[in-house]
Amino acid sequence: MYIKEIKLKNFRNYDFEKIELSENTNIIFGDNAQGKTNILEAIFISSLGKSFRTNKEKELIKENEDKAIIEIKFLKNKREEKIKLEISDKKLFFINDIPLKKTSEIVGKINVVLFTPEDIEILRNEPLRRRKFLNIIISQLRPKYIHLMAEYNRTLEQKNSYLKQIKYENKSKEILEIWDEQLVNLGLKIYEYRKEFIEKINNKIKKIHLETTENKENIEIKYKSNINQENYKKKLKENQEIDIKKGYTSVGIHRDDFEIYINNKNISIYGSQGQQRSSIISLKLAEAEVVYDEIEEYPVILLDDFMSELDKKRINGFIKNINNNQVIITCTEKLTLDNMVYNLFKIENAKIEKIKK
Ligand SMILES: Nc1ncnc2c1ncn2[C@@H]1O[C@H](COP(=O)(O)OP(=O)(O)O)[C@@H](O)[C@H]1O
Ligand SMILES: [Mg+2]
Repeated sequence: MYIKEIKLKNFRNYDFEKIELSENTNIIFGDNAQGKTNILEAIFISSLGKSFRTNKEKELIKENEDKAIIEIKFLKNKREEKIKLEISDKKLFFINDIPLKKTSEIVGKINVVLFTPEDIEILRNEPLRRRKFLNIIISQLRPKYIHLMAEYNRTLEQKNSYLKQIKYENKSKEILEIWDEQLVNLGLKIYEYRKEFIEKINNKIKKIHLETTENKENIEIKYKSNINQENYKKKLKENQEIDIKKGYTSVGIHRDDFEIYINNKNISIYGSQGQQRSSIISLKLAEAEVVYDEIEEYPVILLDDFMSELDKKRINGFIKNINNNQVIITCTEKLTLDNMVYNLFKIENAKIEKIKK
Protein backbone atom coordinates (compact mmCIF):
# COMPACT_ATOMS: atom_id res chain seq x y z
CA MET A 1 0.00 0.00 0.00
CA TYR A 2 1.10 3.58 -0.33
CA ILE A 3 0.11 7.10 0.58
CA LYS A 4 -0.66 9.39 -2.35
CA GLU A 5 -1.39 12.67 -0.69
CA ILE A 6 -1.46 14.29 2.72
CA LYS A 7 -3.34 17.45 3.57
CA LEU A 8 -2.83 19.17 6.90
CA LYS A 9 -4.85 22.04 8.29
CA ASN A 10 -3.99 23.66 11.59
CA PHE A 11 -2.13 20.53 12.58
CA ARG A 12 0.87 21.31 14.85
CA ASN A 13 2.85 24.11 13.14
CA TYR A 14 1.01 23.72 9.81
CA ASP A 15 -1.40 26.31 8.45
CA PHE A 16 -2.53 24.55 5.36
CA GLU A 17 -0.25 22.26 3.43
CA LYS A 18 -0.58 19.58 0.81
CA ILE A 19 2.07 17.05 -0.08
CA GLU A 20 1.94 14.53 -2.90
CA LEU A 21 4.14 11.51 -2.38
CA SER A 22 5.77 9.04 -4.70
CA GLU A 23 4.96 5.38 -4.18
CA ASN A 24 8.65 4.61 -3.76
CA THR A 25 10.96 6.68 -1.62
CA ASN A 26 10.34 10.20 -0.37
CA ILE A 27 12.98 12.26 1.35
CA ILE A 28 11.90 15.26 3.38
CA PHE A 29 14.78 17.36 4.61
CA GLY A 30 15.09 20.56 6.56
CA ASP A 31 16.49 22.13 9.70
CA ASN A 32 15.29 21.22 13.17
CA ALA A 33 11.84 22.31 14.36
CA GLN A 34 10.49 22.93 10.84
CA GLY A 35 7.75 20.28 10.91
CA LYS A 36 9.34 17.05 9.66
CA THR A 37 8.30 14.77 12.50
CA ASN A 38 4.88 16.43 12.51
CA ILE A 39 4.19 14.96 9.06
CA LEU A 40 5.09 11.46 10.18
CA GLU A 41 3.02 11.99 13.31
CA ALA A 42 -0.02 12.91 11.18
CA ILE A 43 0.41 9.68 9.20
CA PHE A 44 0.86 7.65 12.37
CA ILE A 45 -2.30 9.06 13.95
CA SER A 46 -4.24 8.20 10.82
CA SER A 47 -2.93 4.67 11.10
CA LEU A 48 -3.25 3.94 14.82
CA GLY A 49 -5.77 6.53 15.99
CA LYS A 50 -3.30 8.16 18.34
CA SER A 51 0.06 9.84 18.38
CA PHE A 52 3.37 8.24 19.28
CA ARG A 53 4.53 11.32 21.14
CA THR A 54 1.60 12.71 23.05
CA ASN A 55 -1.66 11.68 24.66
CA LYS A 56 -2.86 15.26 24.74
CA GLU A 57 -4.96 15.95 21.69
CA LYS A 58 -4.77 19.67 22.25
CA GLU A 59 -1.05 19.70 21.47
CA LEU A 60 -1.86 18.50 17.97
CA ILE A 61 -3.92 21.58 17.16
CA LYS A 62 -2.10 24.66 16.00
CA GLU A 63 -1.76 27.27 18.71
CA ASN A 64 -4.71 29.67 18.87
CA GLU A 65 -6.82 27.47 16.61
CA ASP A 66 -9.56 25.10 17.69
CA LYS A 67 -9.61 22.40 15.06
CA ALA A 68 -6.96 20.43 13.21
CA ILE A 69 -7.65 18.39 10.10
CA ILE A 70 -5.58 15.56 8.63
CA GLU A 71 -6.62 14.11 5.31
CA ILE A 72 -4.80 11.22 3.68
CA LYS A 73 -5.43 9.61 0.31
CA PHE A 74 -3.92 6.17 -0.01
CA LEU A 75 -3.93 3.18 -2.29
CA LYS A 76 -4.62 -0.26 -0.87
CA ASN A 77 -5.77 -3.39 -2.68
CA LYS A 78 -5.50 -1.24 -5.81
CA ARG A 79 -8.30 0.98 -4.51
CA GLU A 80 -7.95 4.62 -3.64
CA GLU A 81 -9.34 5.51 -0.23
CA LYS A 82 -9.43 8.57 1.96
CA ILE A 83 -9.07 8.94 5.70
CA LYS A 84 -9.99 12.19 7.33
CA LEU A 85 -9.47 13.11 10.93
CA GLU A 86 -10.85 16.16 12.69
CA ILE A 87 -9.31 16.99 16.02
CA SER A 88 -11.04 19.50 18.26
CA ASP A 89 -12.24 18.85 21.80
CA LYS A 90 -13.07 15.45 20.35
CA LYS A 91 -11.62 13.28 17.59
CA LEU A 92 -13.72 12.43 14.55
CA PHE A 93 -12.66 9.95 11.89
CA PHE A 94 -14.04 9.53 8.39
CA ILE A 95 -13.32 6.89 5.80
CA ASN A 96 -14.29 7.94 2.29
CA ASP A 97 -16.34 10.69 3.95
CA ILE A 98 -18.34 8.26 6.09
CA PRO A 99 -18.02 9.03 9.80
CA LEU A 100 -16.79 6.21 12.03
CA LYS A 101 -18.46 5.39 15.32
CA LYS A 102 -15.30 4.42 17.14
CA THR A 103 -11.68 5.50 16.88
CA SER A 104 -10.65 1.86 16.86
CA GLU A 105 -12.34 1.36 13.48
CA ILE A 106 -9.56 3.41 11.88
CA VAL A 107 -6.78 1.13 13.06
CA GLY A 108 -5.19 -0.98 10.36
CA LYS A 109 -6.55 0.90 7.34
CA ILE A 110 -3.19 2.51 6.72
CA ASN A 111 -0.34 0.22 7.73
CA VAL A 112 2.89 1.76 8.88
CA VAL A 113 6.12 0.79 10.56
CA LEU A 114 7.75 3.74 12.25
CA PHE A 115 11.47 4.03 12.99
CA THR A 116 12.47 6.85 15.34
CA PRO A 117 15.67 7.62 17.23
CA GLU A 118 13.73 6.88 20.44
CA ASP A 119 13.23 3.24 19.40
CA ILE A 120 16.37 2.31 21.28
CA GLU A 121 14.31 2.87 24.44
CA ILE A 122 12.53 -0.39 23.65
CA LEU A 123 15.58 -1.98 25.21
CA ARG A 124 15.74 0.18 28.32
CA ASN A 125 14.41 -1.05 31.66
CA GLU A 126 10.82 0.01 31.36
CA PRO A 127 8.70 -2.89 29.97
CA LEU A 128 5.94 -0.45 29.04
CA ARG A 129 7.77 0.37 25.79
CA ARG A 130 7.98 -3.26 24.82
CA ARG A 131 4.31 -3.89 25.52
CA LYS A 132 3.55 -0.84 23.41
CA PHE A 133 5.57 -2.29 20.55
CA LEU A 134 3.55 -5.51 20.74
CA ASN A 135 0.25 -3.68 21.11
CA ILE A 136 0.92 -1.58 18.03
CA ILE A 137 1.69 -4.46 15.70
CA ILE A 138 -1.09 -6.71 16.99
CA SER A 139 -3.72 -3.94 16.98
CA GLN A 140 -3.00 -3.15 13.33
CA LEU A 141 -3.61 -6.74 12.31
CA ARG A 142 -6.17 -8.03 14.82
CA PRO A 143 -8.92 -5.45 15.48
CA LYS A 144 -10.33 -7.75 18.17
CA TYR A 145 -7.17 -7.23 20.20
CA ILE A 146 -7.93 -3.54 20.71
CA HIS A 147 -11.28 -4.39 22.28
CA LEU A 148 -9.78 -7.11 24.45
CA MET A 149 -7.15 -4.69 25.72
CA ALA A 150 -9.70 -1.99 26.45
CA GLU A 151 -11.92 -4.40 28.33
CA TYR A 152 -9.02 -5.91 30.23
CA ASN A 153 -7.80 -2.48 31.31
CA ARG A 154 -11.26 -1.41 32.37
CA THR A 155 -11.75 -4.57 34.43
CA LEU A 156 -8.31 -4.22 35.98
CA GLU A 157 -9.04 -0.65 36.99
CA GLN A 158 -12.33 -1.65 38.61
CA LYS A 159 -10.72 -4.51 40.45
CA ASN A 160 -7.86 -2.32 41.67
CA SER A 161 -10.20 0.27 43.02
CA TYR A 162 -12.14 -2.48 44.78
CA LEU A 163 -8.90 -3.78 46.29
CA LYS A 164 -8.49 -0.38 47.89
CA GLN A 165 -12.03 -0.50 49.19
CA ILE A 166 -11.30 -3.83 50.84
CA LYS A 167 -8.29 -2.29 52.51
CA TYR A 168 -9.84 0.98 53.63
CA GLU A 169 -13.53 0.20 53.92
CA ASN A 170 -13.43 -3.45 54.91
CA LYS A 171 -15.45 -4.56 51.90
CA SER A 172 -15.88 -8.28 51.32
CA LYS A 173 -13.19 -10.25 49.48
CA GLU A 174 -15.60 -12.64 47.89
CA ILE A 175 -16.58 -10.48 44.96
CA LEU A 176 -12.91 -10.36 43.84
CA GLU A 177 -13.36 -13.71 42.22
CA ILE A 178 -15.77 -12.28 39.68
CA TRP A 179 -13.15 -9.81 38.50
CA ASP A 180 -10.43 -12.42 38.52
CA GLU A 181 -12.48 -14.66 36.33
CA GLN A 182 -12.92 -11.87 33.79
CA LEU A 183 -9.25 -10.96 33.96
CA VAL A 184 -8.23 -14.55 33.30
CA ASN A 185 -10.72 -14.86 30.50
CA LEU A 186 -9.61 -11.70 28.70
CA GLY A 187 -5.97 -11.98 29.74
CA LEU A 188 -5.49 -15.44 28.28
CA LYS A 189 -6.78 -14.30 24.90
CA ILE A 190 -4.33 -11.40 24.96
CA TYR A 191 -1.59 -13.79 26.07
CA GLU A 192 -2.29 -16.04 23.08
CA TYR A 193 -2.14 -13.13 20.64
CA ARG A 194 1.16 -11.96 22.07
CA LYS A 195 2.62 -15.45 21.98
CA GLU A 196 1.49 -15.84 18.39
CA PHE A 197 3.03 -12.56 17.27
CA ILE A 198 6.31 -13.03 19.08
CA GLU A 199 6.59 -16.31 17.27
CA LYS A 200 5.80 -14.64 13.94
CA ILE A 201 8.47 -12.01 14.61
CA ASN A 202 10.97 -14.69 15.61
CA ASN A 203 10.35 -16.47 12.32
CA LYS A 204 11.38 -13.30 10.46
CA ILE A 205 13.99 -11.61 12.59
CA LYS A 206 16.48 -14.46 12.63
CA LYS A 207 17.17 -14.32 8.90
CA ILE A 208 17.13 -10.52 8.73
CA HIS A 209 19.64 -10.23 11.54
CA LEU A 210 21.98 -12.95 10.28
CA GLU A 211 22.15 -11.16 6.94
CA THR A 212 23.06 -7.82 8.46
CA THR A 213 25.72 -9.32 10.75
CA GLU A 214 27.48 -11.57 8.24
CA ASN A 215 25.96 -14.62 9.93
CA LYS A 216 27.56 -13.77 13.26
CA GLU A 217 24.57 -12.94 15.41
CA ASN A 218 21.79 -15.30 16.24
CA ILE A 219 18.88 -13.24 17.50
CA GLU A 220 15.86 -14.43 19.43
CA ILE A 221 12.91 -12.80 21.16
CA LYS A 222 11.63 -14.34 24.37
CA TYR A 223 8.16 -13.63 25.68
CA LYS A 224 8.12 -13.06 29.44
CA SER A 225 4.83 -13.29 31.25
CA ASN A 226 4.26 -13.92 34.94
CA ILE A 227 1.27 -16.10 34.06
CA ASN A 228 0.39 -18.90 31.64
CA GLN A 229 -2.72 -20.88 30.64
CA GLU A 230 -2.44 -23.24 33.59
CA ASN A 231 -1.57 -20.99 36.49
CA TYR A 232 -3.29 -17.64 35.80
CA LYS A 233 -6.19 -18.08 38.20
CA LYS A 234 -4.06 -19.71 40.86
CA LYS A 235 -1.52 -16.90 40.75
CA LEU A 236 -4.18 -14.25 41.20
CA LYS A 237 -5.50 -16.11 44.22
CA GLU A 238 -2.01 -16.60 45.68
CA ASN A 239 -1.35 -12.88 45.45
CA GLN A 240 -4.68 -11.77 46.80
CA GLU A 241 -3.50 -10.73 50.27
CA ILE A 242 -0.48 -8.87 48.91
CA ASP A 243 -2.63 -7.18 46.28
CA ILE A 244 -5.10 -5.98 48.91
CA LYS A 245 -2.19 -4.44 50.83
CA LYS A 246 -0.76 -2.83 47.71
CA GLY A 247 -4.09 -1.78 46.27
CA TYR A 248 -3.30 -3.15 42.82
CA THR A 249 -3.06 -6.45 40.95
CA SER A 250 0.50 -7.68 40.79
CA VAL A 251 0.15 -10.54 38.32
CA GLY A 252 -1.34 -10.69 34.86
CA ILE A 253 -0.70 -9.75 31.27
CA HIS A 254 -0.44 -6.05 32.18
CA ARG A 255 3.01 -7.00 33.48
CA ASP A 256 4.11 -8.78 30.29
CA ASP A 257 7.49 -8.19 28.77
CA PHE A 258 9.88 -9.61 26.20
CA GLU A 259 13.64 -9.87 26.00
CA ILE A 260 15.97 -9.88 23.03
CA TYR A 261 18.86 -12.31 22.99
CA ILE A 262 21.87 -12.36 20.71
CA ASN A 263 23.88 -15.58 20.79
CA ASN A 264 22.04 -16.46 23.99
CA LYS A 265 22.89 -13.23 25.79
CA ASN A 266 20.30 -10.67 26.81
CA ILE A 267 21.28 -7.61 24.79
CA SER A 268 19.60 -5.14 27.14
CA ILE A 269 22.30 -6.13 29.61
CA TYR A 270 25.20 -7.41 27.54
CA GLY A 271 24.75 -5.80 24.12
CA SER A 272 26.95 -3.00 22.82
CA GLN A 273 25.32 0.24 21.66
CA GLY A 274 25.80 -0.85 18.06
CA GLN A 275 24.27 -4.28 18.68
CA GLN A 276 21.33 -2.74 20.45
CA ARG A 277 20.70 -0.32 17.62
CA SER A 278 21.00 -2.94 14.89
CA SER A 279 18.76 -5.39 16.74
CA ILE A 280 16.04 -2.76 17.01
CA ILE A 281 16.32 -2.17 13.27
CA SER A 282 15.98 -5.92 12.70
CA LEU A 283 12.98 -5.97 15.03
CA LYS A 284 11.25 -3.26 13.03
CA LEU A 285 12.11 -4.85 9.70
CA ALA A 286 10.67 -8.10 11.04
CA GLU A 287 7.54 -6.19 12.02
CA ALA A 288 7.21 -4.95 8.43
CA GLU A 289 7.56 -8.49 7.07
CA VAL A 290 4.96 -9.84 9.48
CA VAL A 291 2.54 -7.14 8.32
CA TYR A 292 3.19 -8.11 4.71
CA ASP A 293 2.61 -11.81 5.40
CA GLU A 294 -0.67 -11.03 7.10
CA ILE A 295 -2.25 -8.63 4.63
CA GLU A 296 -0.18 -9.07 1.47
CA GLU A 297 0.40 -5.36 1.31
CA TYR A 298 3.70 -3.68 2.07
CA PRO A 299 3.36 -1.30 5.02
CA VAL A 300 4.58 2.27 4.62
CA ILE A 301 7.97 2.70 6.28
CA LEU A 302 8.42 5.95 8.19
CA LEU A 303 12.01 6.82 9.05
CA ASP A 304 12.23 9.78 11.38
CA ASP A 305 15.60 11.46 11.62
CA PHE A 306 16.84 8.02 11.27
CA MET A 307 19.65 8.37 8.81
CA SER A 308 21.58 10.67 11.09
CA GLU A 309 22.87 7.60 12.87
CA LEU A 310 24.01 5.56 9.90
CA ASP A 311 26.85 5.99 7.43
CA LYS A 312 26.18 6.11 3.70
CA LYS A 313 27.02 2.45 3.02
CA ARG A 314 24.63 1.29 5.73
CA ILE A 315 21.92 3.65 4.49
CA ASN A 316 22.04 2.19 0.99
CA GLY A 317 22.06 -1.35 2.41
CA PHE A 318 19.14 -0.64 4.66
CA ILE A 319 17.07 1.00 1.92
CA LYS A 320 17.55 -2.07 -0.29
CA ASN A 321 15.91 -4.13 2.44
CA ILE A 322 12.72 -2.12 2.10
CA ASN A 323 12.67 -1.43 -1.61
CA ASN A 324 9.18 -2.89 -2.06
CA ASN A 325 7.73 -0.50 0.47
CA GLN A 326 6.85 3.11 0.19
CA VAL A 327 9.41 4.87 2.36
CA ILE A 328 9.14 8.32 3.88
CA ILE A 329 12.41 9.59 5.29
CA THR A 330 12.99 12.76 7.26
CA CYS A 331 16.50 14.11 7.73
CA THR A 332 18.34 17.35 8.34
CA GLU A 333 20.76 17.14 5.41
CA LYS A 334 19.88 16.69 1.78
CA LEU A 335 20.32 12.99 1.23
CA THR A 336 21.34 11.30 -2.02
CA LEU A 337 20.70 7.64 -2.66
CA ASP A 338 22.58 5.75 -5.33
CA ASN A 339 20.68 4.10 -8.19
CA MET A 340 17.32 4.90 -6.71
CA VAL A 341 14.18 6.68 -7.75
CA TYR A 342 13.00 9.09 -5.12
CA ASN A 343 11.21 12.35 -4.49
CA LEU A 344 12.96 15.11 -2.65
CA PHE A 345 11.18 17.71 -0.54
CA LYS A 346 12.57 20.67 1.32
CA ILE A 347 10.75 21.87 4.36
CA GLU A 348 11.03 25.24 5.96
CA ASN A 349 8.77 26.63 8.63
CA ALA A 350 5.92 24.24 7.79
CA LYS A 351 6.12 24.95 4.06
CA ILE A 352 6.98 22.01 1.85
CA GLU A 353 8.48 22.35 -1.56
CA LYS A 354 9.29 19.58 -4.00
CA ILE A 355 12.78 20.15 -5.38
CA LYS A 356 15.05 18.76 -8.06
CA LYS A 357 17.81 16.44 -6.98
N1 LIG B 1 0.33 22.83 18.53
C1 LIG B 1 1.32 23.48 17.91
N2 LIG B 1 1.10 24.74 17.39
C2 LIG B 1 2.08 25.40 16.75
N3 LIG B 1 3.33 24.93 16.59
C3 LIG B 1 3.61 23.70 17.08
C4 LIG B 1 2.63 22.93 17.77
N4 LIG B 1 3.19 21.77 18.15
C5 LIG B 1 4.46 21.80 17.72
N5 LIG B 1 4.73 22.97 17.09
C6 LIG B 1 5.99 23.38 16.48
O1 LIG B 1 6.40 22.42 15.54
C7 LIG B 1 7.83 22.44 15.46
C8 LIG B 1 8.40 21.06 15.65
O2 LIG B 1 8.02 20.29 14.60
P1 LIG B 1 8.74 18.89 14.33
O3 LIG B 1 8.01 18.29 13.21
O4 LIG B 1 8.87 18.13 15.59
O5 LIG B 1 10.18 19.40 13.88
P2 LIG B 1 11.34 18.64 13.11
O6 LIG B 1 11.41 19.25 11.75
O7 LIG B 1 12.57 18.94 13.90
O8 LIG B 1 11.00 17.20 13.10
C9 LIG B 1 8.32 23.33 16.55
O9 LIG B 1 8.70 24.56 15.97
C10 LIG B 1 7.13 23.47 17.45
O10 LIG B 1 7.13 24.69 18.12
MG1 LIG C 1 11.95 15.68 14.19
